[in-house]
Amino acid sequence: MSMSEYKPLIVAFCCNWCSYAGADLAGNNRLCYPADVKIIRVPCSCRVNPMFILRAFQRGADGVIICGCHPGDCHYTSGNYYTRRRMATLFSMLDYLGIEKERTRVEWVSAAEGAKFAATMNDFVETVAALGENKRLEDLRCKK
Ligand code: FES
Repeated sequence: MSMSEYKPLIVAFCCNWCSYAGADLAGNNRLCYPADVKIIRVPCSCRVNPMFILRAFQRGADGVIICGCHPGDCHYTSGNYYTRRRMATLFSMLDYLGIEKERTRVEWVSAAEGAKFAATMNDFVETVAALGENKRLEDLRCKK
């Protein structure tokens, strides 16, 4: 595949209460972000088991981003604090496995931050595109 046609596949886990609403707002305001960002709505960012991220990489994702409410604003009080700690551990493990840390990210996006959501996705897609395809964690059994 030539680099010009390469578009990274991005999985974005968004918490229902803030970030998913932020994505909705971005859509309502007609802000652009790449269609290759596949959003998965979760009740809270802490619903994202680190295994989901590894699985996404195995299934061919080039980048995985988790978006949740700002610290202190989680609908379940402290869910995003768990997310932050869990993901810090996972990210250091990915680093150990040789996965570029830029392929994963945690961002806090509120329901009022449609512009931030679009800007975050554009920036993330650009960063991952520069890294190229994710080959290291890809599970060849998942290839079509
Ligand atoms: Fe949004 Fe917990 S509900 S991070």
